[in-house]
Amino acid sequence: QPIYLKDYTPFGYLIDSVDLTFTLSPEATRVRSRIAFRPNPDASDTTFFLHGENLKLISAAIDGQSITPKLTDQGLTADAPNAPFVWEAEVEINPAANTALEGLYMSNGMYCTQCEAEGFRKITYYPDRPDVMAPFTVRIEGAEKVMLSNGNPGASGEGFAEWHDPWPKPAYLFALVAGDLINHPGQFTTKSGREVELNIWVRPGDEGKCAFGMEALKHSMKWDEDVYGREYDLDLFNIVAVDDFNMGAMENKGLNIFNSSCVLASPETSTDGNFERIEAIIAHEYFHNWTGNRITCRDWFQLCLKEGLTVYRDAQFTSDLRSAPVKRIEDVIALRARQFREDNGPLAHPVRPESFVEINNFYTATVYEKGAELIGMLKTLVGDAAYYKSLDLYFERHDGDAATIEDWLKVFEDATGRDLSQFKRWYSDAGTPRLKVSDDYSDGTYTLTFRQSTPPTPGQDEKPPRVIPIAVGLLGPNGDEVQATQVLEMTEEEQSFTFTGLAAKPTPSILRDFSAPMILQRDSSNAERAFLLAHDTDPFNKWEAGRALAKDGLIAMIREGASPDSAYLDAITAVARDDTLDPAFRALAMGLPSQDDLAQTLFDGGTTPNPQAIWDALETLRQARAQHMQDLAPRLYAQYQVEGDYQPDAAQSGARSLANTALGLITRLDGGAQAQRQYDAADNMTQQLAAFCCLLQAGKGEAAIAAFYDQWQHDRLVIDKWFSMQVVQAAPDQTAAVADALTQHADFTMKNPNRFRATLGALAMSPAGFHHASGAGYELLTDWLIQLDPLNPQTTARMCSAFETWKRYDAARQDLIATQLDRILATPNLSRDTTEMVTRIRGA
Ligand code: ARG
Ligand code: ZN
Repeated sequence: QPIYLKDYTPFGYLIDSVDLTFTLSPEATRVRSRIAFRPNPDASDTTFFLHGENLKLISAAIDGQSITPKLTDQGLTADAPNAPFVWEAEVEINPAANTALEGLYMSNGMYCTQCEAEGFRKITYYPDRPDVMAPFTVRIEGAEKVMLSNGNPGASGEGFAEWHDPWPKPAYLFALVAGDLINHPGQFTTKSGREVELNIWVRPGDEGKCAFGMEALKHSMKWDEDVYGREYDLDLFNIVAVDDFNMGAMENKGLNIFNSSCVLASPETSTDGNFERIEAIIAHEYFHNWTGNRITCRDWFQLCLKEGLTVYRDAQFTSDLRSAPVKRIEDVIALRARQFREDNGPLAHPVRPESFVEINNFYTATVYEKGAELIGMLKTLVGDAAYYKSLDLYFERHDGDAATIEDWLKVFEDATGRDLSQFKRWYSDAGTPRLKVSDDYSDGTYTLTFRQSTPPTPGQDEKPPRVIPIAVGLLGPNGDEVQATQVLEMTEEEQSFTFTGLAAKPTPSILRDFSAPMILQRDSSNAERAFLLAHDTDPFNKWEAGRALAKDGLIAMIREGASPDSAYLDAITAVARDDTLDPAFRALAMGLPSQDDLAQTLFDGGTTPNPQAIWDALETLRQARAQHMQDLAPRLYAQYQVEGDYQPDAAQSGARSLANTALGLITRLDGGAQAQRQYDAADNMTQQLAAFCCLLQAGKGEAAIAAFYDQWQHDRLVIDKWFSMQVVQAAPDQTAAVADALTQHADFTMKNPNRFRATLGALAMSPAGFHHASGAGYELLTDWLIQLDPLNPQTTARMCSAFETWKRYDAARQDLIATQLDRILATPNLSRDTTEMVTRIRGA
């Protein structure tokens, strides 16, 4: 049943054109297709197989002759001529019954599609694979006010609209939207003078939440011209907001479809974090027009070719528009939370997987975020100029292609003359490498010795050494930088690097800007960490030093019952007090390692993590910190209140972030009085939600829970926050009960992925509550996964990763989890998606 990368063969036919006619009807949409095929001279297998699932075949013909193909539940096979021919078919589909949200489905009475990866086969019979590309012409017949597809508009009139997309594309980039929609218009002129009409299409009532997304789109278009020289290539660019969507958004050619949570924004309903994320996702989908659409993937094993690169590009964009250090720190926090977690468990897989059962299970942090880290390392290794030179060659050489990772690396080899065969291991070898560091100083010479190793992952025991860019700087005893950042290129399992002419033993700042996605293992003193936190010129490592200090102290509290570390408290207070530092940076520096991060660190160090003990230690430290900063917190809170009109920019959001961090400290001492005042006065969601969160933490949330609901019950996206915040802020012994009660709420529905994630996903993301010794969290999540699976396999399978860390925990918890995993596996007709995930998690 698995599909293997090594088995790739090209399809036996090429397509010159695709004509589709949709006659819309919620329960019986007709799709007529007319496809011009011709034999593929590069293919040896001439089987004419078209994918198709859940389709009712009405008729099929080849060159006008009606035929009866051989049907299975995967598709059809027919005899095809050894010459160009025209395939015609008519099928009937039922969008209203499509709860999987893949293919053509209905969301709030509106028709929409999601075809990546393999949804087009639920629309019509087709070679649904990314290496089959064709220009599409689409006619939509229906009564909807607005009927959209890819490309440029053609004729339209009463009851129909036609579209033509001149750019050959794979079927996964097809899209259709029809409904009662309103547009927020915009305009962009490309650098060569093409006038592009822009629209964000929303349901009536949401038109006030489009302005920010529109600006983000224009910034993205300009940025891709300025930085990568990439221009838009159609006369129209449409974005549509959809409430029911499995993922964040989708880069369909000229018609991006977004989860409404990833595009709709207003100060009253969206937090600063939401604004930043929306800006990044709009950029991400737009950037796919070149990295994904103009150059697509040969097969789904190459997914990181478009996703890693596009994530990397959107991160560059955010760094340029906002603060590069803040973005880098945020990304590394997320990488460690999601990708390192994945890489250290039973779901570990290479950035380019070699086999899969269900490709939807591989839209992972490893493919996306680690994939982006690989691009960053490549850029660090070859240098900026060579990177952009290689990208120019990539676009020139592969425009119009369905490409591979081999093609990608070859471009860099040709442009730079470098041999990248060792670098390629980053694509093929799963697991997070460990980097052990030791050092030595004598007679002015400082030596750093590194040793790399990667633990085994499922199916991969041996991990040969990789090439690693290690960015290093050295600080002298007074805190001045005696060696600016230099990139050491490690290629051996163990390797030393020397620095000469030093007057005294320096303090090393290693893996600056997190130059490689690794776990750095270095025995370091509190004093050294405090020193780096105070003096490092690299903002990432400055933050990292504070994080390490906090983490060591927490581990000692958990493992040995130590008290909160005063070295940490003093050092972090000094950072918080330092008004010369960016407030956003200070807020990040005051963050603490997550429960999950601590659990993994304890496990790696040979201690079985106790989720409750981790939670208790974090609470104790937070309380101690509130005491320690009791004079500073009110000063920061007052000083960083933002005056004037709300702007979701880096400066204002940084100030709010620091002030709200201070509010968290204040709440621990005043029991919520200040938070209640902020809640009552808030005129934007950032302030309101931060106060709501503090009140819930302090156990004073009851009135706010009711008030928040009353105020926002008409707004789905805000009510999602209401659901998740209550779960996340519950005490560990209450988490499952709170989540359970919320699933009984009239506004809970498992058909909406956002609402399901806000409730059950929040449970899974609250470690102490989810892993509560009673097992109630495990059982509740399992009950709902089993219920959701027949409706929406994709979202179910994704959420099964809640259990991926189970081998860290004690025997009693492992038994409880095993029971639940087996219960899922024993469910009749379990989807392929969920079966694959749970089987991998359960392990051998
Ligand atoms: N290509 C989309 C993006 O990253 C994600 C689509 C995911 N779809 C899926 N079925 N897993 O922007
Ligand atoms: Zn993407």
